[in-house]
Amino acid sequence: MGQGHANSKPEEVDESMVLVGSEEDFKKSKRIKATVNDREVVIFYHEGKYHALDLRCYHSGGPLHLGEIEDCNGQTCIICPWHKYTIALGTGEGLYQGKDPENPTAKKWYSKGVKQRVHKVTIRNGGVYVTLSDTSIRYDSDYYASEKFDEKTCVKK
Ligand code: FES
Repeated sequence: MGQGHANSKPEEVDESMVLVGSEEDFKKSKRIKATVNDREVVIFYHEGKYHALDLRCYHSGGPLHLGEIEDCNGQTCIICPWHKYTIALGTGEGLYQGKDPENPTAKKWYSKGVKQRVHKVTIRNGGVYVTLSDTSIRYDSDYYASEKFDEKTCVKK
């Protein structure tokens, strides 16, 4: 193994990427809370895919790491434990069910647009890294990302 190869590994991880655990950690726990550059995030490992989002729900700051994961119309979603808002893990869209105008007895899924900030997950050499997304674009969850919450009660201090 030459020196060039040995030196190439550190370059694969750029400085914006923050290590939040190992792939083994995620296989065991399925979800991990982390603080990335002073921002609370939650990373889910579900059906072989990683998803990182702001930890506090865009509605009122609920702790998304305590929510249930459900399939909603083909999208993998987290259900906030406080008021049951539905958030698509892949996009951060807020989803809800409403009347289907074409079939008044049925319900249909609608999107409110992206409400929860999602972040980039990168796997390197068995490590799971999060890179925060561009904060020049505002999302509703940004409001709660700057608040401080009690670790035990999850309520705002
Ligand atoms: S705080 Fe998440 S649904 Fe209200």
